[in-house]
Amino acid sequence: MRKASAIQYFKHYLAPYWRGMLVMIVLSLLSVVFEVVAPLFMGRAVTALAQYVAAYRAGKQITIGAFQVNLKLMILMYSLFLLLLLASWLIAVRINSFADHDMRVNLFKKFQRLTIKYFDTHQDGKLLSLFTSDLDNIFNALNNAIFELIAQVAIFAGTIWLMLRVNVQLALVTMALTPVALLVTVILMRKSKKYIDLQQEKISTLNGYVNEQINGQKVIITNGLQQQSIAGFNRYNDEVRTAMFKGQLYSGMLNPLLQGLSYLNLAIVIAVGSVIVMNSGISRSVGLGLIVTFVQFSQQYFSPLTQLASIYSQIQLALTGAKRIDRVEIQPEEDQVPTGQNLAPLTKKVAVVDAHFGYQPDKEILHGIDLNIPQGTMLALVGPTGSGKTTVMNLFNRFYDVDQGCVTIDEQDVRTLTLKSLRSRIGIVLQDSVLFTGTVAFNIKFGKPAATDEEMIAAAKQANIHDYIMTLPQGYATEIDGEQGIFSTGQKQLLSIARTLLTDPDFLILDEATANVDTVTEARIQAAMDNIIVGRTSFVIAHRLKTIINADQIAVLKDGNVVEQGNHAELLAQKGFYYKLYTNQMVLN
Ligand SMILES: Nc1ncnc2c1ncn2[C@@H]1O[C@H](COP(=O)(O)OP(=O)(O)OP(=O)(O)O)[C@@H](O)[C@H]1O
Ligand SMILES: [Mg+2]
Repeated sequence: MRKASAIQYFKHYLAPYWRGMLVMIVLSLLSVVFEVVAPLFMGRAVTALAQYVAAYRAGKQITIGAFQVNLKLMILMYSLFLLLLLASWLIAVRINSFADHDMRVNLFKKFQRLTIKYFDTHQDGKLLSLFTSDLDNIFNALNNAIFELIAQVAIFAGTIWLMLRVNVQLALVTMALTPVALLVTVILMRKSKKYIDLQQEKISTLNGYVNEQINGQKVIITNGLQQQSIAGFNRYNDEVRTAMFKGQLYSGMLNPLLQGLSYLNLAIVIAVGSVIVMNSGISRSVGLGLIVTFVQFSQQYFSPLTQLASIYSQIQLALTGAKRIDRVEIQPEEDQVPTGQNLAPLTKKVAVVDAHFGYQPDKEILHGIDLNIPQGTMLALVGPTGSGKTTVMNLFNRFYDVDQGCVTIDEQDVRTLTLKSLRSRIGIVLQDSVLFTGTVAFNIKFGKPAATDEEMIAAAKQANIHDYIMTLPQGYATEIDGEQGIFSTGQKQLLSIARTLLTDPDFLILDEATANVDTVTEARIQAAMDNIIVGRTSFVIAHRLKTIINADQIAVLKDGNVVEQGNHAELLAQKGFYYKLYTNQMVLN
């Protein structure tokens, strides 16, 4: 994996627009040429005017033509400059909006290809921050700064070239303060970069915190933790402020300091310039014109530096943002196994063979699990919370891969199958059901948008949620607004079951919601379970043991080991761990 780099990032996203960029650069360079040479004509006009006045005083008659011509030329130069500037600016804006669009799309697509591990180890809010804060910074900078950067560098180079051509001595005087300006710039930029990097890091942490607190609002309210929540926010927010202040302080200082240097430079040019002019043999009118020209040059020479200084923080924010996004873009992706076998319809069995697994290398969670699920049967996995049930589930469709042993479908290691075919044959109902903004119908058809309404209703009936949906004001057309809802946890899970059933998977995995559901919903879940498992190969993680009494096999997981296995009656007869779990639940109920 290469290192994250802002330069690589911009190179990648701007390269497709190189033709447009080239035109833009040429136009803006041309515009700069006109801007830079305009003072020449201004100087000539002044010289001509001075000569005219001198001649007039001396009682001689000369025409004012030279003055007029030069003045007109100056106006023409400035007009051309503005016109070309406008044209190149338009091209730049267009390229920027396209490049920014590509950046957004690719980042979002990248999210779709990242591993589950990445999401499990990174806060949602921090990832969101890339979209909001970082991409916005890049867009702003592309719109203002990049364009400015090209123009200013060109103005700078052009001015130097022209000054040297007009008068080497005066040119050197004008550039005398450059080393000081560069030194100041480099020192302040370095300081500022450090804090701008920090600022974006802190904003991301703050966004992560806000996101978490909003999601946990109910817990905060129930425990009366509002003040603590605010205190936490203030702590992160203070860190943002400190970094922001320092970043802006150093980059903000740059502009006034360079302005000061530019005024100082102006004074030097006028003073030293007069001496040079007076000591050289040139006429007063020509000398005056020369000084006026160099006064303009001197400002033109320093303006790129001050301009760049004023947008420096914008540029730095964009560089920081690009690097942060690039860091995500270079992350490893899910292995699609492009050369793998396509998984055929299940005919024999799904099996877990001596599986060892841990989320972290030094902490094994599953210690050699063996499970066998013959085609058409149901295996229920039960066990205390944290015993590793969801972890086992994660292995079937490769949310994670085993460290040792294997998971096989019809005796093929899942790692040898194309990811697409594997996942298309496995249907999973997660422990936390997710609903998307849209209608109930949209949510059920999520995995198979082409499904007919009849198919959808059949799935809902099988999942035992149809009757409830019919009590909603608009039935299947009822809008669900994000997470908040008209559905209870149990009902949400029934809806997820319907969604998964609609895709008619060969192998169905159901991770039962742990939240307590009322007895009516429990009965519905049980009935749904009975409906969906007939003839289907399924793996059901159950918390309510009553719901899995009819399972073909029950495996009992404890601390990452399968400690008992058999059907309900056999396990009860063993009077072991399952017996204890079951009788405890019955007593509680
Ligand atoms: N993404 C993860 N990263 C690190 N550790 C994890 C991760 N997910 C789970 N664990 C750890 O793995 C162990 C097993 O968790 P798992 O979610 O499989 O339990 P479970 O049996 O499904 O529990 P529950 O009945 O509460 O759903 C726990 O100790 C948990 O802390
Ligand atoms: Mg679980």
